[in-house]
Amino acid sequence: MPRIALIPGDGIGVEVVRQARKVLSCVGEVERIPLDLVQWDLGAEQYLARGVAVTDAEMRELETGYDALLLGALGDPRVPDNAHAREILLGMRFRFDLYVNLRPVRLMDPSFSPLRTVAPEDVDIVIFRENTEGVYVGLGGLFKRGTPDEVAIEEDVNTRKGVERIVRAAFEYARAAGRRRVTLADKANAMQFAGGLYRRVFAEVGEEYADIEREAIYVDALALDMVLHPARYDVIVASNLFGDILSDLAAALVGGLGLAPSANLHPGKPGLFEPVHGSAPDIAGLDRANPLAAILTAALMLEQLGYAQAAARIEAAVRATIRQGKTTPDLGGTLGTEAVGDWVCTALRDVAP
Ligand code: NAD
Ligand code: IPM
Ligand code: MN
Repeated sequence: MPRIALIPGDGIGVEVVRQARKVLSCVGEVERIPLDLVQWDLGAEQYLARGVAVTDAEMRELETGYDALLLGALGDPRVPDNAHAREILLGMRFRFDLYVNLRPVRLMDPSFSPLRTVAPEDVDIVIFRENTEGVYVGLGGLFKRGTPDEVAIEEDVNTRKGVERIVRAAFEYARAAGRRRVTLADKANAMQFAGGLYRRVFAEVGEEYADIEREAIYVDALALDMVLHPARYDVIVASNLFGDILSDLAAALVGGLGLAPSANLHPGKPGLFEPVHGSAPDIAGLDRANPLAAILTAALMLEQLGYAQAAARIEAAVRATIRQGKTTPDLGGTLGTEAVGDWVCTALRDVAP
């Protein structure tokens, strides 16, 4: 029986993971998949109470005791420097070496896009975000803090091994999924060392995938073009920071963060699955959060665990829920978080996966 750790976290993370849990239980019943769901109350509350976000022993247990981890979001106004989120979220990504941050972006309904003329098939992008290095490693420091001469250094660390494995993962995925093109987003014109490494590795590895088209684009130009011509993009590979920014931008093209799932992966190891969005303090506790990103994330998790049919059933149920207009206000609906979760559960029983 797959053992899954649920880590709701903070803010709307708690609300959307409750719905994802409900949907997992429903699909488990319909598809006869027994799931062992274990809740972990890591987050700001616990951090403030005990002064540590996650202990070494807890990290070890999360790493070795589960087949998958499903996280809501971390971030709380009471922790302004976000220390606990870094410890828990970046802690797991780095420590478990989950080097692929997979972020699929699909337009489920044209009315969700802020673009004037766009059909569902026009936006179907999969972002491969490097997840274990770049400017996220936390190497740096402050000098003369609090003075007019203050200096802040944040190092951008890029290794050949790290670049190669994310680039290869993108090409492998493209080939396996029958995708035609991989685009590298970089900033090699200004950041010559990191950008140069990415470009060289992209060309070298790309040679091994002659069946896949490849192009390298500066990330600023890509941000523009993705809005103007989203259909040009298929698989995108980017460093940690560029991938982070591009994934929010891409989500905006298809209806926003309430629909964007993601997976942190290292082939052969348990994955960490989370919606792309954060804890949204502006709407937390108001029953306004869209649970579909978390629900689609649960589907991504089941797919990775080998339950493709259950994953397809969830996706079909989400599409049916959307078709009937049973959505939260961010998608133009009038329902609450809880009610949308209920609709997905109901639809699960009727749809063919
Ligand atoms: P956010 O993703 O929480 O919110 C951005 C905007 O999108 C807000 O207006 C919010 O209301 C809206 N939104 C997000 N998810 C939504 C949903 N499911 N339904 C409806 N609307 C939704 O980003 P932020 O405001 O920059 O960050 C808030 C906190 O979350 C910060 O502490 C940040 O560091 C943290 N954060 C955590 C994660 C994570 O844990 N993976 C990801 C992003 C941000
Ligand atoms: C995300 C988030 C995180 C990131 C933050 C909360 C550190 O924005 O998962 O996209 O930048 O990776
Ligand atoms: Mn982000």
